[in-house]
Amino acid sequence: MHDYQLVDGDTTVYRDGSIKLHTAAGFEGMRKAGRLAAEILDACVELVKPGVTTGSIDDAIRGMMLDAGAVPATLGYRGYAHSSCISINHVICHGIPGDKVLKDGDILNIDVTPLVDGWHGDTSRMFYAGEPPLKARKLVEVTYECLMLGIQAAKPGARLGDIGAAIEAHANQFRYGVVREFCGHGLGKLFHDAPEVVHAARPGTGPELKPGMFFTIEPMINLGKPWAKVLGDGWTAVTRDKSLSAQFEHSIAITETGNEIFTKSPTGRDCPPYV
Ligand code: MF3
Ligand code: CO
Ligand code: CO
Repeated sequence: MHDYQLVDGDTTVYRDGSIKLHTAAGFEGMRKAGRLAAEILDACVELVKPGVTTGSIDDAIRGMMLDAGAVPATLGYRGYAHSSCISINHVICHGIPGDKVLKDGDILNIDVTPLVDGWHGDTSRMFYAGEPPLKARKLVEVTYECLMLGIQAAKPGARLGDIGAAIEAHANQFRYGVVREFCGHGLGKLFHDAPEVVHAARPGTGPELKPGMFFTIEPMINLGKPWAKVLGDGWTAVTRDKSLSAQFEHSIAITETGNEIFTKSPTGRDCPPYV
């Protein structure tokens, strides 16, 4: 490890001023934060139904985090005032919870990041309010497949671009658009750190993946064109063509043998339908 610079006693080494390599303490911290994040999304399954407001779901999420001794990392992050992002239908990401009422047939993403003992567990899943149409459910299923194919490509010796290449290749088969404006990211003690994980890339490009790297993969896939725009509130990102958009996110580590997913559902509810 002679070419790595130690930046944080028991948790972290730093390579070439860019991507951090974490050690056992970091893995322990991320397991705990990731598990809580996944349990909170598990609990959201019972909360999502037609007639409820996104604000009420956000309130419940904040309550679950505080009860568990965690803090919502999004609360106060760059002026964001909520404990989750809830993105419905053509909203790509960063939907702001509020008075909006879920209606039958909506698809929505809930994205949570509890900060637990200094570590960030960042994860999101799609949910169905009532029964969405087949084309919406297909988009959701393929988006989950994109995430898992991206994770399969994340292993020591591979390149960062192999992840986006796997995601893009799968989305292309269905003529879906892969959003470029928002990326996955390194995380750990920081919420957003290097590297930037793009979800459409050329294979064999970018930095080599090494054990101890922590980052999210969080593909946003549109039923139509990939183009995004941010609304006047400064947060809500929507598809320019108003087509539906879906997203799933896991926080993972590169390990000696492949990867470890910190945010897997302990009850197997990683992708709808949640029966
Ligand atoms: N959880 C989001 C992510 O996946 C970030 C949300 S930042 C917020 O990176 F301020 F919008 F909440
Ligand atoms: Co993230
Ligand atoms: Co997130």
